[in-house]
Amino acid sequence: MIRVHSRSVRAMLWVKALHIVFVISWMAGMLYLPRLFVYHTEVSDEIGHQRFCVMEKRLYTLTLIAMIGTWVLGIWLLLLLPGYLQTGWMHAKLALVIALSGYHGWLKGRLRAFANRKNTRSARYYRIANEVPAVLMLVVVILVVVKPF
Ligand code: HEM
Repeated sequence: MIRVHSRSVRAMLWVKALHIVFVISWMAGMLYLPRLFVYHTEVSDEIGHQRFCVMEKRLYTLTLIAMIGTWVLGIWLLLLLPGYLQTGWMHAKLALVIALSGYHGWLKGRLRAFANRKNTRSARYYRIANEVPAVLMLVVVILVVVKPF
């Protein structure tokens, strides 16, 4: 077998591959939960309401696990590539990832509001809120791949 990379580089690439898998799962949950909220606002019967609560809770749990995995593997990557901590793009990325984590916490709050029948926001509100993680993700991926500064 031809070895293209040294052992330490290959170890880093494994961590990076898993980091990307967790990122995909986290983003999938953060993009789909507000969609469920959009449909939930349009439900008026009790069975429909309960069904949405169960779907939201399960999706939230998976999203939480994905967020923890993304953070753990991202910090692990930083330990393997410490030079990146001195770069502007990494500072910007970390700031946006903290914002994404804040959005994640906000989703948890909205989920609780639905479960306690205290949601007062409209479908349109959740449609607009849905764009927030999409835009943040777009900028994070550009920062990490293009490394513009
Ligand atoms: C949770 C905190 C995070 C930390 C500490 C972190 C850290 C890192 C580090 C150090 C790398 C290696 C960079 C390189 O080799 O060029 C990396 C790669 C990557 N990260 Fe993150 N990351 C985090 C979250 C995220 C998020 C939320 C996204 C996307 C929305 C993301 C997307 C990526 C991608 C696509 C790569 C691969 C880049 C490449 O190899 O060209 N990361 N991350």
